[in-house]
Amino acid sequence: MEMFESEKQLEYINRIKDITDNRANKLGRELTYCVVTFGCQMNANDSEKLRGVLERSGFVTAPEGEADFVIFNTCTVRENANTRLYGRLGQLKPLKKKRPELMIALCGCMMQETPVIEKIKKSYPFVDLIFGTHNIYKFAELLYESLNSKNTVIDIWDKPKEIVEELPQKKTYSFKSGVNIMFGCDNFCSYCIVPYVRGRERSRKPEDILNEIKELADNGVVEVMLLGQNVNSYGKTLDFPMSFAQLLKGVEKIEGIKRIRFMTSHPKDLSDELISVMSKSDKICRHLHLPLQSGSTRVLKAMNRKYTKEDYLKLVDKLRQAMPDIALTTDIIVGFPGETDEDFEETLDVIRKAGFTSAFTFIYSKRTGTAAAAMENQISADIVKNRFDKLLKVIGETATAQCEKFIGETFSVLAETVSDHDQTMLTGRLDNNLQVHFTGGAEFIGKFCMVRLTKCKSFYYFGEMVSECEVASV
Ligand code: SAH
Ligand code: SF4
Ligand code: F3S
Repeated sequence: MEMFESEKQLEYINRIKDITDNRANKLGRELTYCVVTFGCQMNANDSEKLRGVLERSGFVTAPEGEADFVIFNTCTVRENANTRLYGRLGQLKPLKKKRPELMIALCGCMMQETPVIEKIKKSYPFVDLIFGTHNIYKFAELLYESLNSKNTVIDIWDKPKEIVEELPQKKTYSFKSGVNIMFGCDNFCSYCIVPYVRGRERSRKPEDILNEIKELADNGVVEVMLLGQNVNSYGKTLDFPMSFAQLLKGVEKIEGIKRIRFMTSHPKDLSDELISVMSKSDKICRHLHLPLQSGSTRVLKAMNRKYTKEDYLKLVDKLRQAMPDIALTTDIIVGFPGETDEDFEETLDVIRKAGFTSAFTFIYSKRTGTAAAAMENQISADIVKNRFDKLLKVIGETATAQCEKFIGETFSVLAETVSDHDQTMLTGRLDNNLQVHFTGGAEFIGKFCMVRLTKCKSFYYFGEMVSECEVASV
């Protein structure tokens, strides 16, 4: 079944290629595309699949304002993600008038919401193709259909079918890569729309995951990030169930892979087995992203997170005991319905005690259809703003305290890019996921360098390279 589906899609790619070759001949230049990604790592991974299909179909990349084909891979986790998409579509409207041959497609989480589709049909009828999260593997087929149609092609499924393997993927980096290990989420945290737009939790087969990573390693990838909304419950839905820790042991054995990361971990499912496998490993990075959301047990219950403040702090202790050098990062929501000043103080208390090296902070956003949207006591904007500012201050303080500990020490850093701000600097990551900007040329990108940390800026460092390259990992 799987092979059959991927072969079918490859056949559509060939058909698209005939069309693009033809148009390119007429134009005297290649056709261009731009994939714009909103949202999380899962979406970024999906975008690599879209790029894979487009490049095999004869398209080459171009900036958004110039491309012949623009596709937005959308997110709807908070309202501002939706607002941003409408803003971008508004900007494209005059461009589409000027260049009617411009093709626009929309996909991703936001498209799984019926009211969104209605709004797009009404306000942005110039969009050529719309599909959702469950049928992204049919992108080639849908694009082919769209190229042969004058109307907007819309195909949204309300639930997933099979997991399709073996489709092309255009990797963003040559030396590191995200790898999906599971899809969907079954947790239904009361504020969160992800389970509604991504469907029920399902895991990829371990052999498919391991084969993909082996192939990546053969092609020069040294760092993998295993992706899922709740990686700690990996494997439960398989015909032959296995744990996430067991999967990690398999990944560790793959030659060439030097660093293994994963996200996200739900605190309720973080097992002792995982802590033990992590602490014994010299490939699994000393970093854990462990979303707290709130430090108040009462709010956590209303959020349906299934752990208490004490459970979370105990888990942090256990992790630090097993791995004293582990860096912890988190996600926090402020302004959940009914959150009092006391509840908020509990959140600050956990932040101070847990010593996060950084945190993603969010203002609660009401998502239609979720349990929390119907709750009373939605908090007023000015109270939330006040708490949010205070939160940033406290996180800044704990992050700086964590960061400063390592000033003057030398670590192995994987050089990732030339620094945005300074062409003579490189940006890379420590094993513990903290970023460092350091002196060096582009020839070191994708290599491990020994870097001495000289200055700390709360969430990142400045440093200097002390020895050119360290081939082995940390
Ligand atoms: N599966 C991951 C998180 C996915 S969404 C996990 O459970 O940890 C990423 C983050 O967005 C969440 O951790 C949460 O902090 C935030 N988030 C999700 N829904 C939100 C909402 N309605 N309002 C504000 N923040 C939200
Ligand atoms: Fe959303 Fe909770 Fe699932 Fe994370 S675990 S995706 S926050 S429902
Ligand atoms: Fe957004 Fe979908 Fe990810 S809603 S956060 S892109 S799973």
